[in-house]
Amino acid sequence: MAVLSSAKRVLPWASCNGHALARVSGGLRGLLGTADGAAAAGGCSLLPCRWRSSLPQLDSVDRSDEDSSGGDIDWDNLGFGLTPTDYMYVMRCSQGDAGFSRGELSRYGNVELSPSSGVLNYGQGLFEGLKAYRRSSEMGGYTLFRPEENARRMQVGAERMCMPAPSVEQFVHAVKQTVLANRRWVPPQGKGALYIRPLLIGSGAILGLAPAPEYMFLIYAAPVGTYFKEGLAAINLLVEEEIHRAMPGGTGGVKTIANYAPVLKPQMDAKSKGFADVLYLDPVHKRYVEEASSCNLFVVKGGAVATPATAGTILPGITRKSIIELARDRGYQVEERLVSIDDLVSADEVFCTGTAVGVTPVSTVTYQGTRYEFRTGQDTLSRELYTDLTSIQMGLAEDKKGWTVAVD
Ligand code: COI
Repeated sequence: MAVLSSAKRVLPWASCNGHALARVSGGLRGLLGTADGAAAAGGCSLLPCRWRSSLPQLDSVDRSDEDSSGGDIDWDNLGFGLTPTDYMYVMRCSQGDAGFSRGELSRYGNVELSPSSGVLNYGQGLFEGLKAYRRSSEMGGYTLFRPEENARRMQVGAERMCMPAPSVEQFVHAVKQTVLANRRWVPPQGKGALYIRPLLIGSGAILGLAPAPEYMFLIYAAPVGTYFKEGLAAINLLVEEEIHRAMPGGTGGVKTIANYAPVLKPQMDAKSKGFADVLYLDPVHKRYVEEASSCNLFVVKGGAVATPATAGTILPGITRKSIIELARDRGYQVEERLVSIDDLVSADEVFCTGTAVGVTPVSTVTYQGTRYEFRTGQDTLSRELYTDLTSIQMGLAEDKKGWTVAVD
């Protein structure tokens, strides 16, 4: 029983597909002599050639631009648009393999997918988001923030979505490779970060509703500044009462791609009215605040801080988790609990957290036509926590927590 459950953790899709685990485990792992494909030797003799030919390949001439600057980029006005960079990382896992292996960098470009791939037909996919920061010129190199947390979150999501996932080592190795290959796109210190977007998708063809027979792990990257058009300024949020982001027993607690398209409509409607994002309520009582389309939420009242507990409908944000720890270090009592709409509208201070949004203060929340205002600016907890967090991320403060990972 114990063997089965740990096997399921490693290869959730193997059991989903009804394969005998012994057969699966003896596959590629035995051939390579290692379970970690990232550490395994290169080459593609075990991969069907069509996989190789569908990717823009690296060549030695192309790599010569890695040390030059990021072209004509206006580093002062980055925003969160997509600036295509030079390279992406791709790794595959096929039915019968022991796991992902033989990842490689290729030129950033389109990927080939079957029209009947699991991701296109049934939304079998996950994504992650993390950032690389340029260290000071004296130190050199780059810093990642808790990348192993993203790797573990992807593993949890993969289990839920019946997919195999890269190991933590494979994930972090792939992220580092992607950063180094695109290093000319990492913004200067203080101007932003290289946003790294890992994807895990059911790339194999399937018609009946079932897990796909092949999976692709892909990472691309883009230089980014602030997420909201308001920049570092406080944002206005609208509480959405009709459309819900997640439901008990659903997938709100994992970072599946399927959670994001359904929030486009309320988000676009709110944006057209001048709001930066939407706050969702729980679908059962319509009384408890969950999160925004793109980030988690915190409320501050007196010396107490609260954030909705991650009980299945809330995304367990890595920034959220870090901010809880940093606020506790500052002596605040932080509760992960149900946060009612009354808690929200009566708060002194409200802020959002996320990889893309960082720590963003909220100046107003509109609920049932009434606009509630909160404290922003100097002497707010969100400002202090923003400074605490970004100082660690950018290498300006000592990382006593061991959260950063160097990429040299
Ligand atoms: C992130 O913060 O990295 C996210 O994935 C949110 C996304 C909507 C940009």
